[in-house]
Amino acid sequence: MAGSERTLKRPFNAYHRDRAMPVDPELQETGWGMPCGEYLRRFWQPVALSEDLGDRPLALRILGDDLVVFRDGSGRPAVLEKHCCHRGTSLEFGKIEEQGIRCCYHGWLFAPDGAILETPGEPPGSRVRDKVFQGAYPAHEFAGIVFAYMGPPEEKPAFPDYDLWARRAVADFQPYKIHNPCNWLQVRENEMDPVHITFLHTRHSGVQFTPCYGAVPTIEWQETPVGMMYVSVRRWGDFLYLRSNDMILPNIARVAGIEDAEGETEFDRRSGATNWVVPIDDANCWTIGWDEVDRHIPEEGRDGYLDRMARRGANMLNPNSAGQTAEPTYEMRQAAPGDWDAWTSQGPVTSHSREHLGLTDRGVTMYRRLVRDGVRAVAAGQVPKGLQAEAPPEPLRTFANNTVKRVPPAPTEEDDRALRLEFGREITERIMRGEIRYTLHQAAE
Ligand code: FES
Ligand SMILES: [Fe+2]
Repeated sequence: MAGSERTLKRPFNAYHRDRAMPVDPELQETGWGMPCGEYLRRFWQPVALSEDLGDRPLALRILGDDLVVFRDGSGRPAVLEKHCCHRGTSLEFGKIEEQGIRCCYHGWLFAPDGAILETPGEPPGSRVRDKVFQGAYPAHEFAGIVFAYMGPPEEKPAFPDYDLWARRAVADFQPYKIHNPCNWLQVRENEMDPVHITFLHTRHSGVQFTPCYGAVPTIEWQETPVGMMYVSVRRWGDFLYLRSNDMILPNIARVAGIEDAEGETEFDRRSGATNWVVPIDDANCWTIGWDEVDRHIPEEGRDGYLDRMARRGANMLNPNSAGQTAEPTYEMRQAAPGDWDAWTSQGPVTSHSREHLGLTDRGVTMYRRLVRDGVRAVAAGQVPKGLQAEAPPEPLRTFANNTVKRVPPAPTEEDDRALRLEFGREITERIMRGEIRYTLHQAAE
């Protein structure tokens, strides 16, 4: 028998815990026709890396749909339903040709938009190819990643244009993808939970970023025009270190670089990462995005941690992926777990009914609310926040940022906490007002 709340507040209560594990369909059910799946389908989603597309079609599942992804002989990326519309054979056994893909079973040839170009075994006069299309989704390739739009074709939005893309002029965008055997939300909401960096990534597992992350930050969250952000401020000796990350709706994180807070790096926006978390099905997802490696290292004195490391010739490739894969052995993961262990060990699809949230989880609840609002907007036939139906006149601004400034400590911890909050708000306001911008920062170098 399930225990009441009162029972669960007593010691040794495991027997009485409610075993029901309800999921939240608005946030966790991602298949076609499900509320969250329909929401995510309104946005362009990454499905594969360009380097995955070779001579043979790539079979994969995204948002519960079985697909093949390939690049045809003329270079066009294509995303088709996996099962041939003739008799259902998988197109992963097909051949890529100049104009599309040819099914292995009876040789039907499909164009990237699903049009049937040839039905070679059919006699003259057969009109079957004029009557049907293979299921297809629009594809778009950008900076080494293949995206698909899997929503209603008449509502296809423009491919999003963020100010981040301008960084390609100064940094190499290095695409990567990581498989997570758990629900997409567990992975994504971690991004708005910055207090875990102090514990998981520093005090528990040894220094996975830099030592200054061991300081417990003040944290505030706020909505932005593209979604929301957190603003964390740490005290490290004579310095204050502000780090803020964007959550760009519906499922994109813009992650600032890492700092050691050993020198001022005002408004540093170098060498971050941008990634999507896209459902494969309800219990699996991909993290797909880019790590950025700046080609230009600023002169000493105007640099940040990654610049200093680069100057010493340290290999900082993929700096943001530490602890985000299953690659270490189980023993190593037990000794020094990372993000991957934290979010996958919650279970394939965790039940929010068993959580007990604290004040530092406000970012998680805020993100869930924004997703829920978007899910409901789509269900009501409205445009969800963050969706750009038309290309915006200017790239959309994002706000992730690192700022380290010399600000000596206040006399008491209470006063210093107030100082940190004040510092976080002041810098964030300047960023939000547009005084501090990517392009300006780049130009200043
Ligand atoms: S099943 Fe594909 S052509 Fe027949
Ligand atoms: Fe993390």
